[in-house]
Amino acid sequence: MNKAQAKARIEKLRELINDYRYHYHVLNESIMSEEAADSLKHELTTLETEYPDLITADSPSQRVAGKPLPGFTQITHSSRMLSLNDVFSQEEVVAWRQRLDKLLPADANLEYFIDLKMDGFACALHYEDGVLTRAVTRGDGLVGEDVTMNVRTLESVPLRLRHTATHKAFLTGRTEVRGEIVMYKADFNRLNKQREKEGKPLFANPRNTAAGTIRQLDPRLVAERPLYFRAYDLLRNKAEEIPTFRFAYDVLSDIGLLTNHQATVVPDLDSILRFAEQWEKKRLSLPFFIDGLVIKVNDRRLFALAGVAGKAPRGAVALKYQAEQATTRVKNIFVSIGRTGAATPVAMLEPVVIAGTTVQMATLHNEGEIARKDIRIGDTVIVHKAGDIIPEVVEPLIRLRDGSEKIFQMPTHCPECNTRLVKHKSGEAVWRCPNNACPSRTWKRIEHFASKSALDIEGLGEKNVIALLQAGLIRDVADIFTLKATDIIKLERFADVSANKLVSAINDKTHPPLNRFLYGLGIRHVGIQTATDIANSFRAIEAVSQATIDELARVNGVGVIVAESIVEWFSEKRNKKLLEKLHKLNVWPKPVKKIGGPLSGKYFAITGSLKAMGREVAAEHIRALGGNFQSSVGEQTDYLVVGDNVGANKLTKANKLGTKQITEHDFLRMIES
Ligand code: IVH
Repeated sequence: MNKAQAKARIEKLRELINDYRYHYHVLNESIMSEEAADSLKHELTTLETEYPDLITADSPSQRVAGKPLPGFTQITHSSRMLSLNDVFSQEEVVAWRQRLDKLLPADANLEYFIDLKMDGFACALHYEDGVLTRAVTRGDGLVGEDVTMNVRTLESVPLRLRHTATHKAFLTGRTEVRGEIVMYKADFNRLNKQREKEGKPLFANPRNTAAGTIRQLDPRLVAERPLYFRAYDLLRNKAEEIPTFRFAYDVLSDIGLLTNHQATVVPDLDSILRFAEQWEKKRLSLPFFIDGLVIKVNDRRLFALAGVAGKAPRGAVALKYQAEQATTRVKNIFVSIGRTGAATPVAMLEPVVIAGTTVQMATLHNEGEIARKDIRIGDTVIVHKAGDIIPEVVEPLIRLRDGSEKIFQMPTHCPECNTRLVKHKSGEAVWRCPNNACPSRTWKRIEHFASKSALDIEGLGEKNVIALLQAGLIRDVADIFTLKATDIIKLERFADVSANKLVSAINDKTHPPLNRFLYGLGIRHVGIQTATDIANSFRAIEAVSQATIDELARVNGVGVIVAESIVEWFSEKRNKKLLEKLHKLNVWPKPVKKIGGPLSGKYFAITGSLKAMGREVAAEHIRALGGNFQSSVGEQTDYLVVGDNVGANKLTKANKLGTKQITEHDFLRMIES
């Protein structure tokens, strides 16, 4: 990007970020997620670092935005309410520490004070001789709004500081307490449930709700909403009275304020990182949301000595947990042909790290979705990725367009085999390549047949399948059972050992369980669960192949569309031939002996990893015992098995639905009994 382009981009970014901030801080509305906005701010700062002469005093990178709200009296803060610089990785924490080293005396023995970074609404409480005189919002950091009447209704805010023998001094003169007003997750859910019943619009998240509530002009409304004030800072005119942050927290609890008991002092970087790692998981079980940790130099004299850069103290950072959204650019859009022929447009992105992994592609689902969201090549877009979910483009940031963006045209022909794309039924969203011999469809079919949930043939991943196809050694799934090590070795990718290993892995799978075999055939709409239901009901492939739509649709969990798709598959000539070919090669699924079982009718989901077995194997056990395995928690779920390193989604959902949660130990007892 040259300077002129950078200038134009910077201006657009500033405009959009300012708008986001205005909506967020002043109107208590959100035009995009905070994570997406952070991502844009990051791009802005990167460009400004590259072209420092383009920095202006009013750039959002240079100040804390948020205008005081009309309707409340404006109050100038006794000292600026600072914000914190964000860091996202271990490396950035290390870099912060190295910068500190240069700022502080060489013999300074640094200790760190770490606390949870609460996701709430900042507020300052003023006490005169121990009596609450004022509560002020953060506002723009310099001037905030007087919200005393509202904050007085919070039970966790003492109207008079508690008497204490040890810290008497704080009860005389001016004492200022700063902290975060938060709404607990459970209260938020209750409130939204109530609103749903009353047909009122739902609140987006606890933080916005807390902020919106405190900025209500009617204190009675505030009193009806459960909010907590959790303190994180204590100020006195004489700074020496508070030597460390640890001391500040001890005084705060002593004089009657709520602080996070998790806050702690640690001696080094390793301990910081350990603490961060621990809380990344444990944060889910906290009653309120946190979005990271705050790390400060514990010694307040050293903290002050390090100074302030812009709006943030140099002696502290916010170590933020990885975001699930980021902004990036769509470099191109191409069409990928799946095994059923579905032509899926995929966005090629400028690489961006989301939730800890680099994302370079995101599904756009179909042509209609692209048009509905108006996603164009060259657009800056918000991309969402959570856990192991496939990344998705949420929306384009239309205001960042510069006119060079191009509208995507769905190709009329398959990019792989040039066959004209068709729609099965009019009105269907998805275009398909109807050519069953399309190279893309073929390799995906074979890859699917060999995949973990199907025949689980190790060594037959995407690249090897393509190599074998290109060498003409295979043309369909049956051919893999004719492969000889002596032929495979000739290919560049394979050595002696790997060729032999592959052949024996294939030969191990000549009599797969019926459900895996059925799933592996790649019949449209037949996932592993459906395949299992059908296998349990029909027990042999011959019976499935002869079943009518009615018979199939009678199986629990199988609808008419699925039944039709199965009947269609078995009636097609080429599929009949394929089955005959497999049969001749003595490749045939094992009939299912047992139906039902001790877990019959029970639905299980798993979150996190299990020590004893992988998720697929656990699912297999569940199914083998007649149970059902679900990849997500729903109304139907009977048990959520909670393993190690759990993610947020399933646990939150289970808490919300009241799903029974069991440990790995409980689960093993169930499957072993
Ligand atoms: S300390 C100089 N501690 O995060 C100290 N802040 O992005 C500055 N926050 O403005 C703040 N939890 O509103 C601190 N345990 C915590 C916090 C915390 C949440 C908020 C606070 C601050 C913002 C910075």
